[in-house]
Amino acid sequence: MQNIGIAITGSGSALPATFLDNQALTKLVDTSDEWITTRTGIRQRRLVNQSESLSGLATLASQKAIASSGISPQELDLIILATSTPDDMFGSACQIQAQLGAHKAVAFDLTAACSGFVFGLVTAAQYIKTGVYKKVLMIGADVLSRWVDWQDRGTCILFGDGAGAVVLQANESDRLLGFELKSDGTQNKYLNLACTPEPTELLPGVHVGKGNFQPITMNGKEVYRFAVQKVPEVIDKALFHANLTVDQIDWLILHQANQRILDAVAQRLNIPEHKVISNLAEYGNTSAASIPLALDEAVRQGKIKPNDIVAASGFGAGLTWGAAIFQWGR
Ligand code: UT7
Repeated sequence: MQNIGIAITGSGSALPATFLDNQALTKLVDTSDEWITTRTGIRQRRLVNQSESLSGLATLASQKAIASSGISPQELDLIILATSTPDDMFGSACQIQAQLGAHKAVAFDLTAACSGFVFGLVTAAQYIKTGVYKKVLMIGADVLSRWVDWQDRGTCILFGDGAGAVVLQANESDRLLGFELKSDGTQNKYLNLACTPEPTELLPGVHVGKGNFQPITMNGKEVYRFAVQKVPEVIDKALFHANLTVDQIDWLILHQANQRILDAVAQRLNIPEHKVISNLAEYGNTSAASIPLALDEAVRQGKIKPNDIVAASGFGAGLTWGAAIFQWGR
């Protein structure tokens, strides 16, 4: 195989306009700003309204990522949308392709919940490595507000909506330095958004299940325990593949689930606080969008600079978890 490298050449993000702060949530469920802030670090989240769409948000984030990469949508070979909340169960990537006018690009959805961005980044990289495609748009976007039980204080306080995107391109040197992906379906029961088909009799003796989904169901304690144990392990493995040590990481971008998880993982890895990117106070847990959203903000704020080494790690439903170590820019 040819020796083709990968570079992440641009990023973008988009958020809905509507804010919901912790105080407002106290009108819905028995909770308090103090409880949410101390247990999670979240202060507010953004929510899509009825007329906004996942594909609209994702398209906006994509346009910014494409512009910051200095390419045009028509140059894209592939679009991967990591989401668990498409506008269309058949997939929303093609709608984004159409809205971007990226007529040459093949487009499809990838589902790996809150690990979706890391799984998608690695998937996109394989197409470039093999020489099949050169320019790939990788989007992480979710609108979990559509699927939350707004009466369940154990989950509704956590989630927000958003979209983030990056452009990956074939490059002389390889900037994707190492990765590791993991799945464990035996723990699926701890976090899911399960289809619960309604029994329907079509004809005498012919039964089908009519499509219906339960809201997000989560055992917070188990997911917390899983994240704090497995995320440091998977980052260690990815660092090993990258032939790097933990002190060579410039920035740690974890899936923005809970500030206590971010702190515990950083502590276990011995990564100082100033290297940990956190924006969950503003947006809550935006699922597949959280890593590219945090990455894009940090790049635009001038924190992440060309050649900085970033360790990104996603974790969540499946259960799935994974880490990717990359060097920003070409
Ligand atoms: O993308 C990955 C998705 N998920 C995660 O990463 C979630 C990981 N887990 C977590 O972040 C935490 O487990 C939570 C934030 C969800 C919960 O925090 P916790 O410290 O594990 O709280 P807990 O579930 O043990 O609940 C402690 C107490 C309970 O009351 P009692 O039994 O001690 O009287 C809960 O009923 O807090 C109560 N509680 C609340 N109180 C006020 C649970 N939710 C709330 C709430 N407001 N929203």
